[in-house]
Amino acid sequence: METMATTAFDITAIRKQFPIIGEAIGGKKIIYLDNAATTQKPLTVIDAITDYYKLYNANVHRGVHYLSQVATEAMEDARQKIATYINANKEEVIFTSGATDSINLVASSLTQLFKAGDEIIISSIEHHSNIVPWQLACERLNLKLRVIPMFESGELDIAAFEKMLNERVKLVSVCYVSNSLGTINPLEEIIQLAHARNIPVMVDAAQAVQHIPVNVKELDCDFLAFSGHKMYGPTGIGVLYGKKEWLQTMPPYRGGGEMIKTVTFEKTTYNDLPFKFEAGTPHVEGIIGLGFAVDYINSIGLANIMQYEHELLEYGTQKLSEIDGIKFIGTAKNKSSVISFLLKDIHPYDCGVILDKLNIAVRTGHHCTQPIMDFLKIPGTVRASFALYNTKEEIDELVKGLHKVSKMLA
Ligand SMILES: Cc1ncc(COP(=O)(O)O)c(C=O)c1O
Repeated sequence: METMATTAFDITAIRKQFPIIGEAIGGKKIIYLDNAATTQKPLTVIDAITDYYKLYNANVHRGVHYLSQVATEAMEDARQKIATYINANKEEVIFTSGATDSINLVASSLTQLFKAGDEIIISSIEHHSNIVPWQLACERLNLKLRVIPMFESGELDIAAFEKMLNERVKLVSVCYVSNSLGTINPLEEIIQLAHARNIPVMVDAAQAVQHIPVNVKELDCDFLAFSGHKMYGPTGIGVLYGKKEWLQTMPPYRGGGEMIKTVTFEKTTYNDLPFKFEAGTPHVEGIIGLGFAVDYINSIGLANIMQYEHELLEYGTQKLSEIDGIKFIGTAKNKSSVISFLLKDIHPYDCGVILDKLNIAVRTGHHCTQPIMDFLKIPGTVRASFALYNTKEEIDELVKGLHKVSKMLA
């Protein structure tokens, strides 16, 4: 019997939309399993970017002329699409250069409302970009950074988290999905526990928005960060969602054009949201491209994508578990389509190099989550991460490749 996902999903048509997928590039037909690092782009996104340059390239917001008006409209249309995608209000969607930049914005701006001795809580399974900005803020403002402990499975110790909450905690910042382990955190619970003590919560959704429907109003998170390039959109563009009340209270992050209402040498007044946080000429084609990426995801349906990717995860986990000497790193009950593993005592890098010779692209190393690797006392992992265009046949190729690696190196 066919499952709902396979009937709703025309995988052949989907793959045709992505020029790199299934094509021989430089004589190599690449099996691309590095989607947590970045996804490939559908033609609609690529065309939207070239159309901007070919047909209506102009600076936005400050021109009375036709081209500027068309470009501004396209950019603001994209903002609306993204707002609808996460169920936010349009003025709560701020364009940044990516999830990293979004987190740095909050770490630089919101923390100015804190006082020395205040505490920020992150978790032990964060990407470096949800660790280092807070460390910098802590050094600058004499704040304290505290870390939710994890279990071997890659799940967080929520009971320990609850005990960490006190009146000095001014922010909790956690990922929705771990990029190196695939763990999906119990965000609703984390947010409820923090909110019960009036503590705002920032969500790093860089590995979530392309896999799981995210509704900021239902989640009730205070901030949410993500990157365009991990959700089939362009590089160099990302989003910070923030609740209006917070964004209005926070001081601007960067100064410059666009973010002001009036400027004199004595005093500057700031623009309304979201422009108050968008100094300088924005990444117009990136924003437009991201709007098309959202259209693309919507055209397939995130619920269908989620179900299809879950099938890939289950299939992959089953097939890889049959390989002698494989050890999964990250065995949370609730997981996204990421499989991290070690094969016998083979170094992840060596495994990745051999797989590359077989035209299989995986990521190896610490995946910008060194504290996880330290906790687990491993040098890194091999990570296969799936997107909507991957197939079970590609997973079979990965399995064959790993058997070869094992024969050569073990
Ligand atoms: C969970 C998580 N957060 C943040 C980032 C940073 O994203 P970017 O480099 O696009 O800013 C990544 C990138 O891998 C990630 O996986």
